[in-house]
This record gives sequence, structure tokens and C-alpha cells, in this order.
Amino acid sequence: MTAKNNLTIIQLDDWHVHVRDAGVLAGVVNFTARQFGRAIIMPNLAPPITSAAAARDYRARILAAVDAKYDFTPLMTCYLTDNIDQGEIETGFMGGVFTACKLYPAGATTNSDHGVTDIGKITNVLETMQRIGMPLLVHGEVTDGDIDIFDREAVFIDRIMSKITRDFPGLKIVFEHITTKQAVDFVKESSANIAATITPHHLVYNRSAIFEGGIRPHLYCLPIAKREVHRLALRAAATSGSAKFFLGTDSAPHSIDAKQSACGCAGVFNAPFALESYACVFDQENALDKLEGFASLHGPDFYGLEPNKRKIVLERADIDVPKTLDIMGTKIIPFHGGEKLNWRFAGLV
Ligand code: DOR
Ligand code: ZN
Repeated sequence: MTAKNNLTIIQLDDWHVHVRDAGVLAGVVNFTARQFGRAIIMPNLAPPITSAAAARDYRARILAAVDAKYDFTPLMTCYLTDNIDQGEIETGFMGGVFTACKLYPAGATTNSDHGVTDIGKITNVLETMQRIGMPLLVHGEVTDGDIDIFDREAVFIDRIMSKITRDFPGLKIVFEHITTKQAVDFVKESSANIAATITPHHLVYNRSAIFEGGIRPHLYCLPIAKREVHRLALRAAATSGSAKFFLGTDSAPHSIDAKQSACGCAGVFNAPFALESYACVFDQENALDKLEGFASLHGPDFYGLEPNKRKIVLERADIDVPKTLDIMGTKIIPFHGGEKLNWRFAGLV
């Protein structure tokens, strides 16, 4: 069988991305806008996006920063706090400002200090969301100090996720950036309203890579990469064709200084070559025929949206990923920086 050298698929969407704000926004968001039709924008700014007015303003700043040659739609999310107003969420969703709510357990990751300290505090909010059909996007890690960092996702499933799905059986939930076989199995065994996003980086490296030859801060993200058995489970899920798994890059830029520090930030900046990275993985798994479902169809289907109208073209060709990018004067190391990838984004048709 001859290998495929060109691929034309429906334009993809990114169902989980951090584009930040102010200084770097214009530099960051255009990497997403040049390839993706829509993106779910994470609300973990400082301060976080907790009202429809703040989301509307943030959306306007994003659209102002997107180059006029791109046709890109940011889909906004509301950051859940212990005291979030369920009326605000309902009005924001019904008014077309919010697409979903994001649950960060307090202290789980970047700018999550205002996150939820106890799931019992947002019972009314989850009831409202279930009633109006608004998706809950979950950062699935417990934050208890006695739980090993590599076990935080699996323990979250046992303690929190299984409780949410049991108590709110009709709630649409996206288990974000899953990193474990346990999460893959949980999502597969759950009802159709439970889905998951998978990042390119969790498909590419395992936890050993973070320490290969020394500590590699640019591979540090949360949830942290796990053992090889988990990476293989993620690759199998992403390329399985199951509509429960779809693309969410979790691209999360931090400056070199913030990453290469005595206390470095979590996040992998993968937006510049996310599509190419996924294409390489699907190619390695002999599953290029499953890429369109994962990248362009399963996500819209879950969110009740139409797939994008345009198509993107990929071709088999070597590309050199720059070691460093200058984003509005801030130096950031992209995922795959300094490596070669063998699929190239050739444009939209
Ligand atoms: O690695 C991560 N970085 N994980 C998150 O959940 C947040 C993100 C960020 O905002 O930097
Ligand atoms: Zn994220």
C-alpha cells in the first residue's frame, strides 16, 4: 500500500486553548486562527472570566487581535468559583456569550486560585447547566497534598468525576486533556454525554521524557504526562474513531523566563504546529483516515454545532520547527522546537 502524501479534511477546531491577554494575545491567537475555525477559549486569566460582561469584552479583545485574513470564532467559557452566580451563567449561555463552564479545582493549575474548593458548593450551578444543556469542561485533578502528582487524575475519577456523572446524569461533560488509561476507560464506559479532549503533547511523550538527559521544563504541563502505558492508551483512543474523543490542544504559552525558573510554570505552547503534530501521530498509527473525525467532526457534534465549511490541506513534507518564537517581544519555546515534523499545513480551500 502506498503512503498517502496529501490530506484534505474539513477545517478543524480547537476545543481547549489558552490565548492569554494583553501583551501576547495578538501574537498567540493568530497561530490558532490560521488553522482552526473555532476554539474554546480558556477563562483562567488574572482575574478570571466569571461574568458574561467580562467574557464579551475578552471576546472583543480576541477578535480585535485576530488578523483580518482569518475567519475565526472564539467560543467563550465561564470560570466556575465557589460563589459563581447561576443566573449569570444561564443568561450568558442563553444570550450566546458563554459556550461552556470550566471547572478548575482550586489550586490545580495556572490561575486556579479562585477555582472550586468543594464540588458540593456548585450543586445549583451544575443543576442549571444540566437543565439548559450547557457543557461542563473539567480539569480533572484532585489537589490534596497527600495524593501523588502522577495519581491526581485517577483519584479525581474515583472521588469527583464519578460522583458528578452519577448525580447529574444528563450533564454534558468534557473531561479535558486526559492523560491516563483510567480516564480513557472512564469516558468510553460512560454515557454519550461524556467526552474527552486529548492534547498533541500527551500523545507524543511520556513522563520519562520530561527528565531525559536533565530536566526539561518546556515539557512540564498539568496534568503532567504519565507512564508509557497511558500515552499508548491515549493514542489508541484518539485514533479509534470514537466520537467521544476530540482535539483540544491545551496550548498554554509561558515566557522562557517563566518556564526556565526555580519554580517553572506548567504549560506547553503547541498552537504553532498543533495540526502538524497530530497529523504525524495519526500517520505513525496508520490512522490518517481517522484524523478528520477527531479534529473536525466529533467536537462540533458534541457541542451541537455544524462542522466548519472550509477544508484544510496537509501535505507530507518536512518542516523545521523554530527553536524559539518571538511573540510580541516575549520569547517562547514552542512544542517540538528545534525538531523536524513530516507533515505540513498547506492552507485552506
Ligand atoms: O499546563 C497547563 N497550563 N495546564 C493547565 O491546566 C493550565 C495551563 C495554563 O494556563 O498555563
Ligand atoms: Zn488548559
